[in-house]
Amino acid sequence: MKVVVCIGSSCYIKGSGKVVTYLQYKIKEDGLGNKVELSGTFCTGQCQKGICVTVDGKLYSVSVDSMEKFYEEEIKAKLK
Ligand code: FES
Repeated sequence: MKVVVCIGSSCYIKGSGKVVTYLQYKIKEDGLGNKVELSGTFCTGQCQKGICVTVDGKLYSVSVDSMEKFYEEEIKAKLK
């Protein structure tokens, strides 16, 4: 599974750095490092939807408040 977090300036201001740190931590904690490839991208042109995160190419609009739910539902749950 490929997870790409936008670290362009608009998404970064909204907290994408925190999302990356959180996802890295959870992926490690849950031992999913061999299943999830986490990376960053520059602005993808959809700033109004930010924080933009794609999972295997599908775009999700994530916030610092929703990142836990996003991880549980869109990443962890789908790898079981
Ligand atoms: S900065 Fe993330 S889509 Fe523009």
